[in-house]
Amino acid sequence: MSNETIPQRSRSDQTKGNGLADARVVVTGGSAGIGLAVAKHFAALGARVAVLDRNLPVGLEGVEGYRADVTDQEQVNTAMRQIAENFGGIDVLVNNAGVSFVGTVEDGSMEDWHRLFDLNVLGYVRTTRAALPYLRKSGQPAIVNVSSCSATNGIPKRALYSATKGGVQSLTLAMAADLISEGIRVNSVIPGTVNTPFMDKIVAADADPAAKRREFEARQPTGHMVEADEVAAAVAFLASPASRSTVGASLVIDGGMATIRLPKE
Ligand SMILES: NC(=O)c1ccc[n+]([C@@H]2O[C@H](COP(=O)([O-])OP(=O)(O)OC[C@H]3O[C@@H](n4cnc5c(N)ncnc54)[C@H](O)[C@@H]3O)[C@@H](O)[C@H]2O)c1
Repeated sequence: MSNETIPQRSRSDQTKGNGLADARVVVTGGSAGIGLAVAKHFAALGARVAVLDRNLPVGLEGVEGYRADVTDQEQVNTAMRQIAENFGGIDVLVNNAGVSFVGTVEDGSMEDWHRLFDLNVLGYVRTTRAALPYLRKSGQPAIVNVSSCSATNGIPKRALYSATKGGVQSLTLAMAADLISEGIRVNSVIPGTVNTPFMDKIVAADADPAAKRREFEARQPTGHMVEADEVAAAVAFLASPASRSTVGASLVIDGGMATIRLPKE
């Protein structure tokens, strides 16, 4: 096993693959949806990519799968150690594995509330704790947390989910403050409504799925859902040396949902 400190890259090295060629990247929840798009995007830039997921990715060229549930610290530690051994270290952690929950503050059992916080918030804590010893030895360490427009907008029937994503936003700021003295940059992305299996489930559960999909599309002033590869490009920017002065920031990819109010016709 080799966890040696990698040397700082030269300026010319930093331009290859946006400075991510040969970067060693871990993407949690990378077997589907946004995480899958992120894994593919980094692989296309020439990075070495490991997906840490409870389901293994299927047939992804240039991507290695490591099965672990982010609610289990031991599984996470084992997977992260194996990744670091196989890659000779870790440069980038993308915290992405998360699930949704539809309901108001009165909905869901207390078990549901504990389960979602355990996965969506503590999952990011577990993977970060496991990755930090390796990130500390990297020449270009970065953490990107996938947050949500639910953290920053009042969206009906998303009380539990929004609360977990608000936790991710605050955690991002606090981690950024704690880790910047060590050169580890922490940022987040705030996607709007993204066309993934996560949204498909919410649409399918509705009495009128076609109307529900149209409603989700209309939520973005652009009139269409965000595609996962748009979020992937934003994640890659925040992980790359091109954003070396961007710390504790949130990059919004929401089709104007948070900022634009179109007049009603
Ligand atoms: N889809 C959207 O509209 C949207 C919008 C904003 C933010 N997000 C956030 O983006 C992230 C990914 O969402 P998505 O839409 O790609 O979801 P998805 O359901 O399409 O994919 C989630 C992935 O995470 C994995 N996963 C789930 N629980 C896990 C666990 N306990 N341990 C390990 N892996 C686990 C799944 O196996 C899957 O591969 C989530 O954090 C979500 O909150 C999604």
